[in-house]
Amino acid sequence: MTTYKIAKMPGDGIGPEIVAEGVKVIEKVAELKGFNVDWVNYDNGADKYLETGELITEDTLKEIKDTCKAIYLGALGDPRCKPGILEKGILLKTRFYFDQYVNLRPIKLLEGVDCPLKGKGPKDIDFTVIRENTEDFYVGIGGRANAGKSKGHLEVIRDMWKVKFDLDIENTDEIAYQIGVMSKNGADRVIKYGYDLAKKQNVETAYFVDKANVLSDIYSFWRERVVEIGKQYPGITPEYMFVDAITMWFVKNPEWFKVVTTPNMFGDIITDLGAMIQGGLGLAPGGNINPKGVSMFEPIHGSAPKYKGMNRANPLATIWAGAMMLDEVGQGPAHDLIVNAIQGVIMDGKVKTKDLGGNNTCSDMGDAVAKKVEELGGI
Ligand code: IPM
Ligand code: MN
Repeated sequence: MTTYKIAKMPGDGIGPEIVAEGVKVIEKVAELKGFNVDWVNYDNGADKYLETGELITEDTLKEIKDTCKAIYLGALGDPRCKPGILEKGILLKTRFYFDQYVNLRPIKLLEGVDCPLKGKGPKDIDFTVIRENTEDFYVGIGGRANAGKSKGHLEVIRDMWKVKFDLDIENTDEIAYQIGVMSKNGADRVIKYGYDLAKKQNVETAYFVDKANVLSDIYSFWRERVVEIGKQYPGITPEYMFVDAITMWFVKNPEWFKVVTTPNMFGDIITDLGAMIQGGLGLAPGGNINPKGVSMFEPIHGSAPKYKGMNRANPLATIWAGAMMLDEVGQGPAHDLIVNAIQGVIMDGKVKTKDLGGNNTCSDMGDAVAKKVEELGGI
């Protein structure tokens, strides 16, 4: 029997509760589909950081790389830590370490879920956002300078590139700055992923997001790469959208979209909007993918610290992310079974967490999906 060794990182806030439900469902599917999951727990997160000062070490990352097939993540972020410490020190660090350059975010409104957009239904909201996940304004270089004259130095070292900026600043008041970096290879690989998905889905128009009218150095480059790579896909027409405009069209005409490929920061923003039009953050999963390496799966939402330990969060996004993980490791039918089970539980309408207008707990929801998996899997 195939066994997949998977790193489980429940993280902070509601992370442990929602991951426990995801594991419950995956275990059930594994039993029915005849494979095994060997979970390896990693307790990285706020508690560990506050106790030991450790975020995530190179040794831990290397161990995961050498032994695990994928990572199943809950959420990171805790009010006891300064904003960004855990997010950058664990989440982004892991995305970058494994070079998970595709952030895959399905925006799919399930049957029976309330949609805030009037007159739109599951047929209208069914697309995938492919977010670049390693570059852009996420590379982490910036700083501040006090009034007066100062000098500074910024650098980022990656496998694919190394950049260094020398700064010579003279200003009358304090300033802050942040630098975005996009490489040709970094843009090309995710743009190709977008075109490939469009091709696989027989989509004629593939959408690409930018802000080439203002941030013209970085995003005109992106657009040039979209044109260039597009030459390899004669059947597909690229359509460019400015990020501000696409937020409008997501609301007005979501049915236009099937495959949307976007630089990192804009992808972050538009996928929270995407989550809302698919019924809320409780239903929005994501995968950080390295097609040739270790990928990591997580809900799009955060750690919701105020609900920690209350058994009230909706685990469906995490369960769905678990389905995406099984797909990635080569268990496509297991993915479909879980998504169908989520859909089935929603259609039954009996078990609903608070965000879905009900009173059920997080574990009620996990139990219901696991039971539905058993029901559907037996057919
Ligand atoms: C997301 C999150 C992260 C991001 C944060 C927590 C670093 O918002 O996965 O969308 O900005 O990528
Ligand atoms: Mn986000």
